[in-house]
Amino acid sequence: MPVPALGPVVPIIPAVTGRYSTDVVERIRRIAVSTGGGDCPGLNAVIRAVVKTATNVYGWEVLGIETGLDGLFGRGGARVRPLTPANVRGILPQGGTILGTSNRGNPFAMPGEDGRPVDRSQELVDRLQELEIDAMVSIGGDGSMRIAQQLMDLGVGIVGVPKTIDNDLAATDVTFGYDSALHVATEAIDRLHSTAESHHRVMVVEVMGRNAGWIALESGIAGGADVILLPEIPYSLDEVVNALVRRARGGGKFSIVVVSEGAKPRGGEQLYQTSELGSHGSAPRLGGICNSIAQQISDTCGAETRATVLGHLQRGGSPSPFDRILGTRFGAAAIHLISRGGLGRMVALRGTEIIDVSIADAIAEPKLVNPDGELVKTAMSVGVSFGA
Ligand code: F6P
Repeated sequence: MPVPALGPVVPIIPAVTGRYSTDVVERIRRIAVSTGGGDCPGLNAVIRAVVKTATNVYGWEVLGIETGLDGLFGRGGARVRPLTPANVRGILPQGGTILGTSNRGNPFAMPGEDGRPVDRSQELVDRLQELEIDAMVSIGGDGSMRIAQQLMDLGVGIVGVPKTIDNDLAATDVTFGYDSALHVATEAIDRLHSTAESHHRVMVVEVMGRNAGWIALESGIAGGADVILLPEIPYSLDEVVNALVRRARGGGKFSIVVVSEGAKPRGGEQLYQTSELGSHGSAPRLGGICNSIAQQISDTCGAETRATVLGHLQRGGSPSPFDRILGTRFGAAAIHLISRGGLGRMVALRGTEIIDVSIADAIAEPKLVNPDGELVKTAMSVGVSFGA
């Protein structure tokens, strides 16, 4: 799938001022930071870099909003707390987010008393004014960036920092959190190999990613999977079984199948774990396909099969060095961006450089695996079947 055009990109170098309004840095005294949507490893690295850069380089105060934007709607007032270099000390290697996060904090559709969504966005704007917050750093995925874009229209100054283990934002080469999730998934596949080999079994392992197959594809390649099933390449069960039988006939005594939670059979639908809404607000939670595929493989070819769902293990724990570094770069860059008046923009990684793009462009299209791309072709070259 082609990556959408993002318009001009601007490398973040604090000395660059041309594009932006330069009086902003004089006006800003206090900023806020929030983490929204599903958590991922590296959020604390961003918070720490935001606080240290804002305080040490610009002398700004930083308030942390608790539990996503929900923290601005507390009955007894906002749940916010001052963040200083002293109280973010030691958080770099910690997973999760010290601020907490929420799946439900959309100020344009907060749950009302009768359960129906209520637009409380003006309340949020008023609360930010009461707290004398001049700009906000919103750390989140596509949902948080959409909300940020709407809040910008109400006059709130926001810069975005992209996070998600799914790595599905087109504007950035990588989101932090992805690398850590990839490590968890790859290590799990490595571990499944030895037990699969001992018992001559087919192991089916389900990984996250929603509609993007990045975790499945890359952990599958890194872990030497025999079959990888992605949302972007609808599979046929017959092809999956054929691939497993071919491997068995060629002397393979076990097989590993990596399946993305969003994979779907050719002509069929994705399997939802529950209709309950997840981190993605309006989207129901995916998951559970692994058990169904394992059962179908066993029924079709008689192989002894086991299923493992990695689930939230992929989001937990300490961030990888790569995610700590990327989170730190994003956090510092977000503050330099505010200082140059780059509100309404989101920091991103392009090649080896940190750049910024407009939030509106950043959420225009998701970044999905290209079924005809080099990574898929490489996997096929080394014998991986996509069940297609
Ligand atoms: O977007 C990150 C992600 O972990 C997806 O891969 C997964 O489908 C979803 O969030 C799970 O959400 P929740 O934590 O609400 O179950």
